[in-house]
Amino acid sequence: MRANITLLPGDGIGPEVVAEGVKILKTVEEKFNHTFAFTEVLAGGIAIKKNGTPLPDESLAACQQADAILLGAVGGPQWSDPKANVRPEQGLMKLRKELDLFANIRPVRVYPALANASTLKKEVVEKVDLVIVRELTGGLYFGQPQGRQDNAQGRAAVDTLYYTEAEIRRLLRVAFDLARQRRKKVTSVDKANILASSRLWREVAHEVSAEYPDVEYEDILVDACSMYLIRTPGKFDVIATENIFGDILSDEASMLAGSMGMLPSASLTEGRFGLYEPIHGSAPDIAGQGIANPLATILSVAMMLGISFGLSAEAEAVEKAVETVLAAGYRTADLAKPGEASVSTAAMGDLVADHIKR
Ligand code: IPM
Ligand code: MG
Repeated sequence: MRANITLLPGDGIGPEVVAEGVKILKTVEEKFNHTFAFTEVLAGGIAIKKNGTPLPDESLAACQQADAILLGAVGGPQWSDPKANVRPEQGLMKLRKELDLFANIRPVRVYPALANASTLKKEVVEKVDLVIVRELTGGLYFGQPQGRQDNAQGRAAVDTLYYTEAEIRRLLRVAFDLARQRRKKVTSVDKANILASSRLWREVAHEVSAEYPDVEYEDILVDACSMYLIRTPGKFDVIATENIFGDILSDEASMLAGSMGMLPSASLTEGRFGLYEPIHGSAPDIAGQGIANPLATILSVAMMLGISFGLSAEAEAVEKAVETVLAAGYRTADLAKPGEASVSTAAMGDLVADHIKR
């Protein structure tokens, strides 16, 4: 097949991990006879530096024309002044909103070879195989009013948690559809004992669950969910939740897999188009050293192949290669135990590419 892929390497370790993602795409292209055309554009802090805006119009246009997008990470200490008006993350928000990427899929899988890498006990994490389906274009991230509201009492600020039933329903349908391909269980996470938006969420979730009688359904409060994710994470299959709860729970869940550097994600709209990115950030503390873990990006590429391009054998080949390389004992620094040898970002990419070629 032919596909146009737009690359947004972004900031910090973003360019380093995206380079390995591209390496894997080129390997797949060659081995399976596809043609992938790459267009690289600016986004994030680097775009602010060069163009004064975190998502220049030509970057957005290149994303709109693509069949899929691969993003590294955006942000960094140079741009984190809370008083700044222009911030890298605004580029990401604009991209999510303009492309209507409302469903963020974050699978958490524990590779057998990494069951010891988590700070949690092996018996707890080895059964983990869950997916967080996070609403990505609503909630606190986008609700208006948002911003400073200084007044006579002093400084003040507001954010708004707003959801429509249509936004909730389409997200939950993605979660239920996904559950049907898996262990057929959806856990909807909310804070319905306090938040009106969560009570609407729960109401709609019950309606959607009635459309899927074959899928087991439960709702749970977000604070309890954060506790169960540590206590009995193996019990979750698909977790569906609103934007900020999903943001927080997915970082927590990443620790089950041993490292943030292992978790891929897909941000989808209706249809096959999607943006793929590792869930980790730009990690400015290790940027430029060639030691970042590229596996989250490589696994994001596997998701792109499977979801946007319908190439399931290719997606499986990439996942299998990652599993094999880990089983053979190769580790990037984030996964290595103290004193254990580690391989570089590029070396890890090469190892995975070599296994795909075989
Ligand atoms: C994520 C990130 C982003 C978010 C940041 C970079 C704005 O943490 O994708 O989880 O909060 O959505
Ligand atoms: Mg996050």
